[in-house]
Amino acid sequence: SDKKKKQVRVWVDGCFDMVHFGHANAIRQAKKMGDYLVVGVHSDEEIAKHKGPPVFKQEERYKMVRAIKWVDEVVEAAPYVTSLETLDEYNCDFCVHGDDITTTADGTDSYHIVKAAKRYKECKRTAGVSTTDLVGRMLLVTKNHHKPDEESVEKADVSDIGQSSCGHSPYTGVSQFLQTTNKIMQFSEGKEPKKTDRIVYVAGAFDLFNVGHLDFLEKAAKEGDFVIVGLHTDSVVNRYKGANYPIMNLNERVLGVLACKYVSEVVIGAPYDVTNDLMEHFKVDTVCHGMTPVMPAEDGSDPYAVPKKCGKFKTLDSNNELTTRMIIERIIAHRLQY
Ligand code: CTP
Ligand code: C5P
Repeated sequence: SDKKKKQVRVWVDGCFDMVHFGHANAIRQAKKMGDYLVVGVHSDEEIAKHKGPPVFKQEERYKMVRAIKWVDEVVEAAPYVTSLETLDEYNCDFCVHGDDITTTADGTDSYHIVKAAKRYKECKRTAGVSTTDLVGRMLLVTKNHHKPDEESVEKADVSDIGQSSCGHSPYTGVSQFLQTTNKIMQFSEGKEPKKTDRIVYVAGAFDLFNVGHLDFLEKAAKEGDFVIVGLHTDSVVNRYKGANYPIMNLNERVLGVLACKYVSEVVIGAPYDVTNDLMEHFKVDTVCHGMTPVMPAEDGSDPYAVPKKCGKFKTLDSNNELTTRMIIERIIAHRLQY
């Protein structure tokens, strides 16, 4: 067309340590303010200088941000204080940040320069989730670490949608996040598979969505054209993980998984057994699981018995050892810093 509008390029930056759906939601809103989104991620050294060392290494953090579906480009080792030079270097019109104040080690606003230059816009911070909140939930798990699983479940009043009416997770008690259909619509692309698409189905907890999950899903995406992730309910996850798991309730896990660019669709509260019905319903070609152990179903059976019997099951090696449990161990090792 002759009326070619100039592309609006948007800049977002941050630590993105323990990436959660609050970060993804900020990124989503920022992308909506323009056409092309550049995300600057701070280095470990820079974060250590301003707020203490991050839990996740920069390579992990860069990878996690790259996998968020609204991100067009990642700038590694972006400076903590956003400068006009940085915006200009990447041709960005303005910088977006959540409506909370971020300060440097000496207490100044990290965005004072871009604010003064009127190259700053705000997005709404997502209530009910933050790194500090997640760390709190994880430390709660460690309190009950050596107790038998049953004891920690006594406070659980579990509905299968995964959330009690007060908006608190029955297992960790601290979530304030309230899921809405609107938020799910914003996160999901509403894509339907094409007739010729090969459908891949994976199921799991996907609790504290992390780089291990990401490496697995990247492999799963290579097995077909349309990846469906089945998320187990909180009560199912609690049955096989025990203690105060899951750390994030089903509603939160839905958004975490939906933000990933390899995921096309999510089943909210998938049955533990991958049944014939489920396979037919979604026209599943391949069912995948990583190298992590498969917990037997309540009756002791293999949840993947059906796809295995018809030759539609495949084990994938994510080449990544990271698990939700290991993240919690890292937090304990870091706990003095929080
Ligand atoms: N952000 C948000 N909602 C949240 C948490 C973060 O909108 N619940 C936004 C921040 O405002 C920022 C971006 O995500 O624009 C990335 O910032 P980062 O420095 O990683 O976030 P923190 O604010 O440190 O996040 P947290 O409190 O979770 O550590
Ligand atoms: O443990 P969880 O149910 O969240 O795992 C979801 C899927 O991701 C499983 O198939 C698991 O094997 C896979 N995974 C992986 N590598 C990791 C972590 C998880 O392949 N490091």
